[in-house]
Formats: sequence, C-alpha cells, structure tokens
Amino acid sequence: MTTMPPFPDDFAWGVATSAFQIEGAVDTDGRGPSIWDGFSHTPGRIRGDDVADTACDHYHRYREDVDLLRRLGVDVYRFSLSWSRVVPDGLGHVNGAGLDFYDRLVDALLDAGITPMPTLFHWDLPQELEDHGGWLRRDTAEHFARYTGVVAERLGDRVRDWITLNEPFEHMALGHALGVHAPGHTMGLAALPVAHHQLLAHGLATRVLREHSAARVLLTNSYSPAHAASDDPADHAAAAAYHALHHGLFTDPVLRGRYPDLSAFGVDVTALDFVADDDLAIISTPLDGLGINYYNPTRLAAPPPGEALPFTMVDFPGVAVTDFGWPVIPSGLTQLLTGLAAEYGEALPPLWITENGCSYRVEPGTDGRFHDQARIDYLDAHIRAVHAAITLGADVRGYLTWTLMDNYEWAEGYHQRFGLVHVDPETRDRHPKSSFDWYAGLISGQRG
Ligand code: NOJ
Repeated sequence: MTTMPPFPDDFAWGVATSAFQIEGAVDTDGRGPSIWDGFSHTPGRIRGDDVADTACDHYHRYREDVDLLRRLGVDVYRFSLSWSRVVPDGLGHVNGAGLDFYDRLVDALLDAGITPMPTLFHWDLPQELEDHGGWLRRDTAEHFARYTGVVAERLGDRVRDWITLNEPFEHMALGHALGVHAPGHTMGLAALPVAHHQLLAHGLATRVLREHSAARVLLTNSYSPAHAASDDPADHAAAAAYHALHHGLFTDPVLRGRYPDLSAFGVDVTALDFVADDDLAIISTPLDGLGINYYNPTRLAAPPPGEALPFTMVDFPGVAVTDFGWPVIPSGLTQLLTGLAAEYGEALPPLWITENGCSYRVEPGTDGRFHDQARIDYLDAHIRAVHAAITLGADVRGYLTWTLMDNYEWAEGYHQRFGLVHVDPETRDRHPKSSFDWYAGLISGQRG
C-alpha cells in the first residue's frame, strides 16, 4: 500500500460513537427510558432480538475506552449524550448523576489530550416525550433547547465543539416513515413534521450553545450522492427527487433558509401548516461546520407503476459490497465533498467527516488477532478520497471514522461490526483489530 499523502497540518483525526449503541447501564444512576429501550425489547423488531441493556458497557468501562482512544492517537472523539440520562423524562427534573457521567468522560478525554465533540441527539428520545407526541410535536424542539442549555451549562467550560443532531433524515425516514427504527411509526410522507421539528430543535439549540462562550456548532447529516441508473430522463428525475428529499430537506433550510422543491412528492413546501413565521430564520442560524456522514452513493431509477415514492433504489452492478450489503464506492465521497461546494458556494461552512466506515465480520486468526484487511482497504480508499477533494478545493477540517468498537447497530443488533476494536459478546473485553493499528499508524504518520 502506498503512503497516504499529507493532509493539512491542522487536519483533525478521530473516531465516533453514540450513547445508546455503546453505553449500556440503561437503569443506572437515574437514567430514564428512551424510545430505543422499548423498541429494542419488542420481539421481532431487532435482528436476533438483540438488546442494548449492556451494549459495550461503556458507562462502566469509559476509562478503558479513553485509553484506547489515547493509544489510537486521535485528536477528536465524537460521542453522544443520552438525553434521558440528563433529563430522564425529557420534560422535568435534571438528573445530576447523568450529567456527572459526561463530566467525568470529558475530563478523562481532556486529560488524554483529546478534544471532546459531543452530539446532543443521536436518536434516543426520552420515552415520555414520545408518549406526548415526540418529534411530531413542536414543543419537543423547545424541550431539546432546554436540555441543550442544561448540558452546555455543565460542560460548556470545557467543551468547545458541539453537534446538535445526528442524521435527522434517518431518524425521520427509518423511525417515523418506514418504522424500522424506534419509535416504529409507519407514516410515510406524513412524517414530514418530524423533519421540521428536528430542524427547529437544531436551530434553537444552536442559539443556546452560542450563548455559552466559544461554542462551535455543527449539524451532522447523512449524505449519499444520487446516481441515475441510466441516461433516461425518467431515471434522472428519480435521482433528482431522491436528492431533494435526502440531501436538500436537511441542508437547504439550514444553509439557504428555505425548503427544497418537493413537488415530485406532491408536497407544496410554501404551504406547510407546521412551519411558523420565524422558524426558517432560526433554522438557518449560521453554523461553524457541517458534519458529513458518508457510507455510499445511491443508484436510482424511475419507480414501477403504483409506487408511492417518485424513485426506486437499484443496485450498482459489479460493485463490491460490505457485509451490510452497502456498495464500496470511495469516489462518491470526493464527488459529495466537491459537489457540496458547487451547490452551496459561500453558504457552505467548513466540512467535517463525522462518520465513515464499514461493516465486516472477521473471526480471530491463528494468532488470536482480528485481521480486518477489508476495513483497512475501505478506510484507506475513503481517506484518499477526502484528500482528493481537499486537493480540488473542498474545505474539509477533519475525518472521524465510524466506529471505535463493535457495537449495537440499531435494527441489526450486534450482527454488523463497524469497529476498529472487537468487543467480546460475553465478557465485553476489548480486542483491537488490525485496522486499529493501521489507523494509529496513519495518524502518527500524518504528524511526521
Ligand atoms: C449512521 C449512524 O449515525 C450510526 O449510528 C450507525 O451506526 C452508522 N450510520 C452505521 O449504520
């Protein structure tokens, strides 16, 4: 493998995780239930009926995990806070013990010389808020702003970089339109208020964070460049519709202060009754960075007759896939990063790759170690794709891989393994894989 070309001196390297996927300790120190607790305990919802009650037991092993991060040599660690650990019912009293955990984690990271980059919402809404209507209700955005204030008050003296929400599109689509994630609603396009209320929550929280001194605020979206399956104009129209929904819906309001054209879905964005007068001004409060989660592009064709959506997803023929079945197309990342600059111009803030990674299961070799060469190849190619984009003028400030350790992959339970570190399902002991050593070597090589 050839040496990685040098990235800018101040380029940040990191890894990302999220609370529900790693913490466990769901009944500990006053944590309230989140929508993922009930959903994951509902038979048939999760592959193998796996639950995350213990997950990686990070809540108890966080010092060991910070030590892994230190050995990896990362500059930045992106993790999320469990809202229901901090405000157990999402509405009322603040749980000091929950805040204490994140306080200890932040201190441990700073002691290890690692910059904390917390995400405030990574899909685990407090159950009680869901019982009140969840993201279909406007006041959930106000509760989120209040929770943000509580966290910023406690951690804002040491945390400078914040991410408001993680992948609001997936939370809307998988959780509320299709029902394969918590809270399990199958509302189709009627889930659109979930988009708006999450965006409003993002805007309100951004303003709250700005009140806390030197805060830098990002929103993390998922991006998947839309490829038309053929030159047929109908396939191009399908790709354009997908782009508007997946990419435009959560980017245009934030960067342009308006919703994209959703007429292909029969939606008139100028007549949404849940959008109040000042909302788009709040939502488009300037950002310090845009978080990009990239895994693969998506190939689209015109839908068969009778389909509810104006597109259908089709495979990329002849392209290798990960164990999740996701196509491996690193050039899509260069295309995405340069394309964003072309699409949004001056309105585009600096970019951060807040997630990129792959699921591959490997068994230990004869030496007892996990040799995950396929992950190394995937990461190597994608990091080169980021470098290519920077060379072409994209302003990318950091790269964080998903994820530190094998964890609870939502509806896939523990089946999909995205980690640099294997976690023993019985003992929860951590075993760094070859990709861990490779990534550590890449980071130290970049430092010269
Ligand atoms: C995006 C999500 O933010 C994360 O929680 C998930 O594990 C990865 N993608 C992989 O699917």
